[in-house]
Amino acid sequence: MKIGTPKEIADGEARVAMTPASARDLQKLGFECCVESGAGEKAGFSDAAYEEAGVEILKTAAALWKAADVIAKVRQPTETELKRLTKSKTLISFFNPGGNEDGLELAKSKGATVIAMEMVPRISRAQKMDALSSMANIAGYRAVIEAGNNFGRFFTGQITAAGKVPPAKVLVVGAGVAGLAAIGTSTSLGAVTYAFDVRPEVAEQVESMGAEFVYLDFEEEQQDGAATGGYAAVSSPEFREAQLAKFRELAPEVDIVITTALIPNREAPKLWLADMVAAMKRGSVIVDLAAERGGNVEGTVMDEKVVTDNGVTIIGYTDFPSRMAAQSSTLYATNIRHMMTDLTPAKDGQIVHDMEDDVIRGSTVTHAGEITFPPPPPKIQAIAAQKKPDAPKELTAEEKRAQEVAAFKQQTKNQVTLLAVGGALLLAVGLVAPASFMQHFIVFVLAVFVGFQVIWGVSHSLHTPLMAVTNAISSIIILGALMQIGSGSFLVILLSALSVFMAGINIFGGFLVTRRMLAMFQKS
Ligand code: NAI
Repeated sequence: MKIGTPKEIADGEARVAMTPASARDLQKLGFECCVESGAGEKAGFSDAAYEEAGVEILKTAAALWKAADVIAKVRQPTETELKRLTKSKTLISFFNPGGNEDGLELAKSKGATVIAMEMVPRISRAQKMDALSSMANIAGYRAVIEAGNNFGRFFTGQITAAGKVPPAKVLVVGAGVAGLAAIGTSTSLGAVTYAFDVRPEVAEQVESMGAEFVYLDFEEEQQDGAATGGYAAVSSPEFREAQLAKFRELAPEVDIVITTALIPNREAPKLWLADMVAAMKRGSVIVDLAAERGGNVEGTVMDEKVVTDNGVTIIGYTDFPSRMAAQSSTLYATNIRHMMTDLTPAKDGQIVHDMEDDVIRGSTVTHAGEITFPPPPPKIQAIAAQKKPDAPKELTAEEKRAQEVAAFKQQTKNQVTLLAVGGALLLAVGLVAPASFMQHFIVFVLAVFVGFQVIWGVSHSLHTPLMAVTNAISSIIILGALMQIGSGSFLVILLSALSVFMAGINIFGGFLVTRRMLAMFQKS
């Protein structure tokens, strides 16, 4: 089969769905590759580079759509493009199936198979095909760079001969894929970074990247990320109010705000309101990544940069990935190549469209003359949403007390038996041993008993501090052994030497472990 990539026709789109490197990999899967002449130009991939990678260059879009069995592109196809589909063709592209009913109908009427890249489910196995995440990652990175470009100061704090510069304060709202990329970029540039998200489980990730998670003084049942496929669900009006109050408090302090908050298939929630923009310092910058869905910020103009009366720049560009076309094309082409790997199990250049496969089923929106959108939830998600198994039965107070009494009786019985056996053994030894031996022996047995009872009750986490005490005991043992070692009896010398040896291991081993533990807390 032949896989081909046309030149993107959307205004300003610089990305391309196949790169020379991805073409080489596709050929290894048994496909022949072709591109429309100039398809990769804006992303920095010349026709010559494609030819070198064994890709056929076709002069026109019409020729490409005709020759290719599989068409891989970036942007939602236009009507003209869809009309070029036939029954045997497969189109892989962003498609916006939720808002593109006409497109779905047209593809269905042509009998073509359409794989919508934004529909790849967010499950671990599909991460390598998750084009939304690859693009959001780039958008998050670029948002910080764009903000820096419009911000008149350093990100990092500096103490220079000319004066002290405070670090910039950056707030990232929404710590999904784009948000985390923005946090990573912002902290690595040295800004003091804060982040907020409605999903509390991301707090750890945020903190591990060196940012501070903004907590609200509000209790709401935690959102179950697994049941919602890793996306957020809508929060309550009270939660929203608490969130806005926190933002109002932060607005005069922060220099840069990057908003990425989104709940799939909904308008972006308005989170940074006009009064917060008005409260920001002159020269501050807001990058609203959600501009395409209406924006998180009051005052965002889609695809434009505006400056408010109080000197705050609001950036609403929706083409951040395209502004880094070489990088985004490389990642997107890799996503497509992975999708093709899954579609070509025998690596023989023949597509096997397995509708039982979660990822393929989830992203297929038309197939065999049918519209197959929306897909059923992925099986993993369905399992997560299933009812949790019943918790162990709660015991009544009376049942609990009965259990405790039974356990206590058993424990007492065991102790009495042990004491009886010990007493009998002592008596037996006392019948044959001299009186001076018995005096020491009883002290020894009691010491073992008390020591055992004390150490047995110590939790594992305290065993290392306990070593300090055992070091002290070891020292006493060594002293005792040294006093005995000159006694002249071979057996006593042997036992003393063994005691010194073993107690020595305990002492030096203890020092070594302590050293290693201290090293763990020291910065390298
Ligand atoms: P995502 O779904 O991974 O992340 C969205 C995050 O927002 C989630 O962590 C969610 O919990 C959080 N969120 C939802 N409601 C919230 C609320 N009320 N308050 C705080 N956090 C909230 O989405 P992803 O992939 O990170 O994309 C983020 C945004 O970036 C989307 O709007 C997407 O369309 C946009 N985007 C923009 C591009 C551009 O060029 N402007 C390019 C790529 C993506």
